[in-house]
Amino acid sequence: MPHRPRRSWATWTTSVDPAAGTPGRRQSPGPRTNYLIVGGVGPPGIRLARADYGGFGAEYQSQVYLRGERSPLPFAYEELEAAARQKLPGTAFDYVAGGAGGERTARANLRAFDRWEILPRVLTDVDRRSLAVELLGRVLPAPVLLAPIGVLSIVHPEGELAAARAAAAVGVPFVLSCASSHPIEEVAREMGDGPRWFQLYWSRDRELNASLVARAERSGHAAIVVTLDTKLLGWRERDLERGYLPFLRGEGVANYLSDPVFRSRLGRPPEEDPAGAAAQFLGLALDPTLTWPDLGFLRERTRLPIVLKGVLRAEDAARAVDVGASAIVVSNHGGRQVDGSIPALAALPGVVRAAGGRVPVLFDSGLRRGADAVKALALGARAVLLGRPYAWGLALGGENGVRTVVERFLAEIDLTLALAGIADLASCDATLLRSVPDAIG
Ligand SMILES: Cc1cc2nc3c(=O)[nH]c(=O)nc-3n(C[C@H](O)[C@H](O)[C@H](O)COP(=O)(O)O)c2cc1C
Repeated sequence: MPHRPRRSWATWTTSVDPAAGTPGRRQSPGPRTNYLIVGGVGPPGIRLARADYGGFGAEYQSQVYLRGERSPLPFAYEELEAAARQKLPGTAFDYVAGGAGGERTARANLRAFDRWEILPRVLTDVDRRSLAVELLGRVLPAPVLLAPIGVLSIVHPEGELAAARAAAAVGVPFVLSCASSHPIEEVAREMGDGPRWFQLYWSRDRELNASLVARAERSGHAAIVVTLDTKLLGWRERDLERGYLPFLRGEGVANYLSDPVFRSRLGRPPEEDPAGAAAQFLGLALDPTLTWPDLGFLRERTRLPIVLKGVLRAEDAARAVDVGASAIVVSNHGGRQVDGSIPALAALPGVVRAAGGRVPVLFDSGLRRGADAVKALALGARAVLLGRPYAWGLALGGENGVRTVVERFLAEIDLTLALAGIADLASCDATLLRSVPDAIG
């Protein structure tokens, strides 16, 4: 085999169209495009983000084969994670990879996908495909969002700025974590008109909640996602082992340090007294007293749709709808909160039934490949949130790393659906699957 020098990640980027990452530019859907996607050149002035990722899988795949060389960013999730492990300090890798306790739920989240199998249909026309889906009044090009992941600066200095640019370039919504390492407004500025939501960790300080939500609203976020599974921090053995909590090292607190209400609660500004600010943060960032009536406070303070994340029980889903949630996210926080809790996928059918089509149900926790997403969509999720995979993409390749991971995820969703005989999401339902325990013989 002739030796080919391995190219650096920077030269193996997904798009070299100078306009590709330009925020605020929108490509009209137009006819099916056929320009290079992977490391190629798009038509001048045309952004590669699409109105619909139907058909994208075959195009992406063709470009990879035409290129004919090994990608520096692994395709297999396991290798992606292993490469990130090689690159990152142990503290950062373990913070992202780790789960609560013995990590049984983190592992169970992945295994839960094996309990469902896809039963492909044959002889259906899947030449023209669509992945477009309506969510909270906006049509998305694919049923995918980027999950809120805090403290991304521990894996890459650009953190959320890079991840948000990648999301905007692809055209999928970026859900900005409350615990981001760059302030809401700065991240929003990177995104142009790219779709974005803001995730709120409900604080003990109500005025701080109101202030964060107002800032998110002013900076163009289209929904507030309240995370319900983190009233306290989970028992995370890897982080405890190292005595590592990034917030105490000044990471993931940008929204607090830049907030006028938070600052007004401090004796001295955080620039002069970082330890005091950290103590204040630890004391009030989460609120174990949060209960259903508190959501009324939020409802009065924002006109944005409220999305409740971390719902696993059917009766909680029904109540979420009753109190006016606009969407529900079935999630167990990637197994980072309650070790031994139900795998998120196992909770999905019950929550979908309880929501009864009154609000969309979204899903995360354990998605590693496009085929996983197809199973969640078939079980009734309107869209899915991609988590750890994009954090590893960020660690390895910054904005382009995230973009590539997301594009590959979309490509595989498109191909898996097509090969299962499905041309659009309306026909992707539970009849596509069989449950493995029920399927003996
Ligand atoms: C390092 C890390 C940080 C996270 N930070 C947040 C956060 O700030 N807010 C939130 O709602 N969820 C957070 N999550 C949970 C994700 O939104 C999502 O539920 C989870 O990553 C899904 O699991 P998966 O990545 O294994 O698929 C975080 C997850 C990880 C791995």
